[in-house]
Amino acid sequence: MGGTVALGADHGGYPLKPTVKEFLESQGYTVIDCGTHSADPVDYPDFAAAVAEAVHNGQADRGIVICGSGVGASVAANKFPGVRAGLCHDTFSAHQGVEDDDMNVLCLGARVIGPSLALEVVQTWLSARFSGAERHLRRLKKVDQIESRFMKVES
Ligand code: RB5
Repeated sequence: MGGTVALGADHGGYPLKPTVKEFLESQGYTVIDCGTHSADPVDYPDFAAAVAEAVHNGQADRGIVICGSGVGASVAANKFPGVRAGLCHDTFSAHQGVEDDDMNVLCLGARVIGPSLALEVVQTWLSARFSGAERHLRRLKKVDQIESRFMKVES
């Protein structure tokens, strides 16, 4: 397809980030590189926030956040309205998470998954499309309603 993908990682995810970036570019995607740019210790919420904000704003069509386990990245990214982040280390979750749940941010754990499987997961996720099925729209509307109940009004 092509499009823009925001990509970020903390120091735990940093070893996998260049591999993912190169793959995305080789597939024709424009990458917004949100850092980090070295193995020096940083805080995963900063990079998850940069990616999630790019998706929330519409600067990026989708986002990928990589930390050590992928857990912190998914916890932080899901705080952003309109972001549906999923931690996927298998291809089934990567495509079903888009088809059913309209997942727009993929989280990976570089200390869990190797580069070859990670790229298969990324490829599968990129190729998947939301089904638009009525039952999934209904469920996503409920997710949005939960989000709205707790969202602060910006002044
Ligand atoms: C950093 O040591 C590590 O906690 C982080 O990369 C991530 O795994 C958090 O979920």
